[in-house]
Amino acid sequence: MTTPGAVIVDAVAYAQAIEDAVKASAAYYAGGTSVLDDDAYDRLVRAIAAWEDEHPEQVLPDSPTGKVAGGAVEGDVPHTRPMLSLDNVFSAEEFTAWTASLTRRVGHDVTAYSVEPKLDGLAIAARYTRGRLTRLITRGDGTAGEDVSHAIGTVEGLPEELSEPVTVEVRGEVLMTTAQFEHANEVRTAHGGAPFANPRNAAAGTLRARERAYTVPMTFFGYGLLPVDDTEPALAELLEESAHSDLMTRTGGYGVNTTATTAVPGVTASTAEEVLARVAEIAGLRASLPFGIDGIVVKADLAADQRAAGSGSRAPRWATAYKLPAVEKITRLLAVEWNVGRTGIIAPRAVLEPVRIDGSTITYATLHNAADITRRDLRLGDHVMVHRAGDVIPRIEAPVAHLRTGDEQPIVFPEACPRCGSGIDTGEQRWRCVNGRDCHLVASLSYAAGRDQLDIEGLGHTRVVQLVEAGLVTDLAGLFALTREQLLGLERMGETSTDNLLAALAAAKKQPLSRVLCALGVRGTGRSMSRRIARHFATMGLLRAADAEAIQQVEGIGTEKAPSIVAELAALAPLIDRLVAAGVNMTEPGATPPAPATADGTDGTDGTDGIVGEGEGAPAIADAGPLAGMTVVVTGAMTGALEKLSRNQMNELIERAGGRSSSSVSKKTSLVVAGEGAGSKRTKAETLGVRLAAPDEFAALVADYVDAGPGGVPSAS
Ligand code: IVH
Repeated sequence: MTTPGAVIVDAVAYAQAIEDAVKASAAYYAGGTSVLDDDAYDRLVRAIAAWEDEHPEQVLPDSPTGKVAGGAVEGDVPHTRPMLSLDNVFSAEEFTAWTASLTRRVGHDVTAYSVEPKLDGLAIAARYTRGRLTRLITRGDGTAGEDVSHAIGTVEGLPEELSEPVTVEVRGEVLMTTAQFEHANEVRTAHGGAPFANPRNAAAGTLRARERAYTVPMTFFGYGLLPVDDTEPALAELLEESAHSDLMTRTGGYGVNTTATTAVPGVTASTAEEVLARVAEIAGLRASLPFGIDGIVVKADLAADQRAAGSGSRAPRWATAYKLPAVEKITRLLAVEWNVGRTGIIAPRAVLEPVRIDGSTITYATLHNAADITRRDLRLGDHVMVHRAGDVIPRIEAPVAHLRTGDEQPIVFPEACPRCGSGIDTGEQRWRCVNGRDCHLVASLSYAAGRDQLDIEGLGHTRVVQLVEAGLVTDLAGLFALTREQLLGLERMGETSTDNLLAALAAAKKQPLSRVLCALGVRGTGRSMSRRIARHFATMGLLRAADAEAIQQVEGIGTEKAPSIVAELAALAPLIDRLVAAGVNMTEPGATPPAPATADGTDGTDGTDGIVGEGEGAPAIADAGPLAGMTVVVTGAMTGALEKLSRNQMNELIERAGGRSSSSVSKKTSLVVAGEGAGSKRTKAETLGVRLAAPDEFAALVADYVDAGPGGVPSAS
């Protein structure tokens, strides 16, 4: 396939482009899902036209530029007069150029335009004989179309009986409103069918389907009224001489739907400027409309002007479509994330291969709920039609099923709440964490109590849920206010468990600042970042007194992260105050506070919350330890004195001993501590000639810093 938007370089590429365009257009008019979205199709046609301008002698007969669009559908009912297509303009400049050419053709400035939304559905001709709807015909190839009269009675706005017994043809667009589209897909999938990709496909498929077990409603908007062979001569003449706007008023009077009753009724304008103002208005309302539009149709309103301008074989010269940016593009579904909202709602979100839609790059789209994913049979790796209009959150309309390769993977649904790990209530369409609004609290308390944070033994997930459900804790500080009586009052809480938990909570208060910071869950800071911050500032007071510039002194914190950390700490201030009041340690043992920046700057006494930490004034171990200046990587299982240390605790140990911990081996690595079962990292160290140490050797090297115990105080100091 040609790359849409690419310049056509030779006759072979031109022929290929024609083939692609013909296929896409056939799919479009037949109501199938094209492999090209509208934007790509428009670009392709423009590239074809550009090449044809340069090589007029080589233009192929199938070219979409030279003929009435949509030639693929076999038609059997001839049209009274050709159902033409429209030329496009894509900018105010192109529009102004069009009005200039219109002026030339007509011989004077056009001072009456009609401006209407370009409805995104399918053109049909509705024939009324003495007021009765007798025939519905699709556009087909423009000269003849398919008889779809079976749809009579299912199209809102297209009455079976007019208010007057006239014999006329009404032309207009059949479409599905957003609500009709959703309803149609529900009914269709309930009958085992694949959902339609978008309202346009849904309308096309529905209009042409015969003998379906169900009917789903569609909507009609008229945009043309013309006489047929049997039209009464006086009326025929009147219609031929009427301005477009008057024809629309008449159409409405007959009881047929037009745009008049919508938020974007057709209006008349007397200058190009007025037209452009209306274009801007309609564009602004687009996202809030209950039906899809893909542009604005501008017509010379007066019959005389239309006659003077004339028509080409494909499109009239008296009208043009001002195309709005496409709101739909095809891209790939890469992953599905499950996010938990404030109220505990667990909602899937699609991660997309980035795609530009109407000026912005879209990487995420909403997926509503799990049932929706199943109903639409979405799979990872699928090509999907993504819709984005205005500020509305982009959504996936449907997979483009015929682009499947067979490598697509099923989407895995979570079995536990992805945030707090509790159960999921799947009883309703919208899944919800059983903890509801408390989900966030359960998750953050469980995290804070974890081994690498405050390491509160006996405070597992179930216990946290119990405490939250009993209303005993509403934030992290609340844990330290728990009384023996409160704990004893809980189910499955005996004397021993209670005393153990209280002891664990008391021990947790002595944890170093780095772990407290980590437990607070400051966004953008994980374990190692918390350690770096704590080592740098040494006390919570100094950290809280720091501005973004001061925080940027910490390795790994840049201009973006620094202000957000400052803001997070400010937001957490009340909680931090309560932790301080509860007696939680706010200092980092062994760390030296940074030198005051200026004489009147932070001096280490203001803003320390009045707490003088054990670490303050201690020797600057961080700069002087046995690992000073070294980057150390730990891999494999630790043994001997280090056996009980988690990876996080090993990293803490390395940093206490003056080193830097890292998780990957490179030329810059100074030492790799390789325990049992060490694999690729050990091999890499050997290849790079990086020094290796067994756990015992390493334990000897940092012996003075092991056994830090709660609070992380090195035994040496
Ligand atoms: S006028 C000869 N008015 O756009 C004039 N067409 O891309 C042709 N369309 O085939 C029709 N809204 O299906 C006209 N307000 C509107 C329209 C409209 C949508 C469709 C119609 C046409 C296609 C051309």
